[in-house]
Amino acid sequence: MSLVQRPRRLRQTPAVRRLVAETRLHPADLVLPLFVVEGLDDARPITAMPGVMQHSLASLAEAAREAEAAGIGGLMLFGVPVHKDAIGSEATNPDGILAAGVRVLAETVPQLPIIADLCLDEFTDHGHCGVLDAEDRVNNDATLPRYQEMAVVLARAGATMVGTSGAMDGQVGVCRTALDQAGFTDTMIMAYAAKYASAFYGPFREAVDSSLQGDRRSYQQDPANAIEAIREVRLDVGEGADIVMVKPGLPYLDILAATAAEVTVPVASYVVSGEYSMIEAAAANGWISRRPTILEALTCVKRAGASIIVTYWATEVAGWLKEN
Ligand code: PBG
Repeated sequence: MSLVQRPRRLRQTPAVRRLVAETRLHPADLVLPLFVVEGLDDARPITAMPGVMQHSLASLAEAAREAEAAGIGGLMLFGVPVHKDAIGSEATNPDGILAAGVRVLAETVPQLPIIADLCLDEFTDHGHCGVLDAEDRVNNDATLPRYQEMAVVLARAGATMVGTSGAMDGQVGVCRTALDQAGFTDTMIMAYAAKYASAFYGPFREAVDSSLQGDRRSYQQDPANAIEAIREVRLDVGEGADIVMVKPGLPYLDILAATAAEVTVPVASYVVSGEYSMIEAAAANGWISRRPTILEALTCVKRAGASIIVTYWATEVAGWLKEN
């Protein structure tokens, strides 16, 4: 047999495979999402996300220290208030739980980028990402001033970056203006540029004690569509997004790759709660091997174009990568 082309030559030993690997995960690529809940004395497990906690302010600091020691690239913070109302008042309370959590992170791990979630859904009693009109539809333009106020509150609390995850038209631009006018010209915006109305967010609802009835299909994107994702990404970059995100992760690698080809800003991918829980559940049942599956999932997200990966496994995976 005379075969000139033998692709297997490049796969023959671990050392050769290591030499020719095109994609390498690094702890600095990874961002850990954290949940801080008002009124908790101790961390409380999230049933639908085994291994992930709702944090008190004290346990939040502990988790942040651990994450920093593991060498991860940044933290993302979601806040859950006790009091929810129609306009999400607690979202703009400078002493509210999210601002308080941001302050704790900024004090505990001052070197780490802190991305504060900029959305109302954890704060509204109806669970939507904006305020409602008389017919209970999410009112885009009435929501924007709420986001502007929230952006400034979070920046003042010490957020390095705000994560505009509300999927309202124009939110990146109005938040950029509000931040600049308040003197926060260096506060970055991570735009949830291509954000789909996904069933994979299911477990997150428990993580933030969501009161949502119905769905977000009038503001988040239809999973059937790819073209509008590029439109959304272009709009956000034009409005001043410093980083653009595609969300969820694994089911949307085509969108991620197209986004990476389109923009000249860093691209992030959010491997969301349902993706986490599916792998954890299958691994807990012995149906798949946990560690290789997690590493493969994150490597594939990076290969598809993400230089930043938001994942609930961030600290643990960073630890594995350090061992190697
Ligand atoms: C909205 C938001 C959601 C997630 C992150 N930010 C929920 C939603 O859009 O319905 C989901 C993240 C996950 O599932 O891990 N603030």
